[in-house]
Amino acid sequence: MEPIILSVDQVFATAPENEILSLKEDVKKHINALYQKTGKGNDYLGWVDLPTRTSDHLLKEIQDAANALREKIEVLVVIGIGGSYLGAKSVIDILSHNFNALLPDRKKPIILYAGQNIGEDYLFELLEVLENYDYGITIISKSGTTTEPAIAFRLLRHHLETKYGKDEAKKRIVAITDEKKGALIDLAKKEGYKTFVIPDDVGGRYSVLTPVGLFPIAVAGGDIFAIMKGAKHMMELTNAKVPFEENPAALYAAARYCLSTKGKHIEIMVNFTPRMHNFAEWWKQLYGESEGKQGKGIFPASVDFTTDLHSMGQYIQDGQRNLFETVLSVSEPRNSLAIPHENDDSDGLNFISYKPLSYVNKMAQLGTLLAHVDGGVPNILIEIPKLNENYIGQLIYMFEMACGISGYLLDVNPFDQPGVEEYKRNMFALLGKPGCEEESEKIRNRIDKMFK
Ligand code: PA5
Repeated sequence: MEPIILSVDQVFATAPENEILSLKEDVKKHINALYQKTGKGNDYLGWVDLPTRTSDHLLKEIQDAANALREKIEVLVVIGIGGSYLGAKSVIDILSHNFNALLPDRKKPIILYAGQNIGEDYLFELLEVLENYDYGITIISKSGTTTEPAIAFRLLRHHLETKYGKDEAKKRIVAITDEKKGALIDLAKKEGYKTFVIPDDVGGRYSVLTPVGLFPIAVAGGDIFAIMKGAKHMMELTNAKVPFEENPAALYAAARYCLSTKGKHIEIMVNFTPRMHNFAEWWKQLYGESEGKQGKGIFPASVDFTTDLHSMGQYIQDGQRNLFETVLSVSEPRNSLAIPHENDDSDGLNFISYKPLSYVNKMAQLGTLLAHVDGGVPNILIEIPKLNENYIGQLIYMFEMACGISGYLLDVNPFDQPGVEEYKRNMFALLGKPGCEEESEKIRNRIDKMFK
């Protein structure tokens, strides 16, 4: 099985080689801490060996449940927020036809999302379109108590029960949550929904290789066995026994850490293929929530090229020099399309006629890389031979492992997210949630002062 490529020479070109190499022993120590569960946040290190401990039996159970639901539905609504939907969405987008929803002979269900916002229009209009489709729901929440998905689930559940009746609605709902804790598991048991468990020791943003990601991906038609195989391959390539120079997670973590010590505090994930847009959204959550604490962390941003070269390109080329880029380069597109020749060459494009679009895209990529490096924006290049399940599994695991190492290099706990609670506390106080009465008055006074 071919691995994704992170070339050591190219990584050494991003920051002084000796400085990257000086992190070798630290990185090894951190990989060992991740494996031996001795570092910060060690209650949440279950993701490290998911590729080897996930049984074929569980994968088959997920696949069977996905197949059973697919028989009934044209649309699956995935309800979840943060780590409970971004991984699935990123993989589904990469694997799906760009215009699946518009295919006349569509065989794969359309996947829609809810519970990732509280937009009234969004949910109203979703319920409106669902009138016209046969649909099912998967509700995903590790805590089982997150407000956004809980609200969406209540609305959609009522809609589903009204549309199909309570008994049939039950057969169209799959709940993915903690085995014991939270309101969702109690509801799922009471109603008799099909459920899958999110392991206790796997946090939301590291959960894409559990039923959280695998079930929606399987419903969408992705090969979850191949994803896990790819992840397992990357697990073999990133453990502490692999020499630093050959370990993509170690190289990536060390290079970006070195760059951050040189004032490069913003990392932009770059893709040149629109189906990768949401992969960067997943990556941003993984790194942002894992590293951004105690005044530390590289700010994760993303762009879609060449689209954003016409909006963000100027800044990246010429703005503040606190950026570096990580470019996800896909060698082989799934389809091939050549530029037609025209005798009169009225648009002046004959110099590239008969060339495949992937060739033009590649030249755009190389030209951009050179321009940005010349402009003082170091580029880490990750080459992905093809966008299939195997490479997606590899990428996911590589970025997770590198994120754990990166968090430890920064000496933060990469597996908690205490900062996320702040807005919730204020929101609950403002909404008058039982138990928040005292806080409620304080917060209201502050808001009144702010807006008077
Ligand atoms: O990474 C995390 O832990 C978070 O982003 C969660 O995934 C997110 O807050 C959703 O939480 P839950 O699955 O408990 O509803």
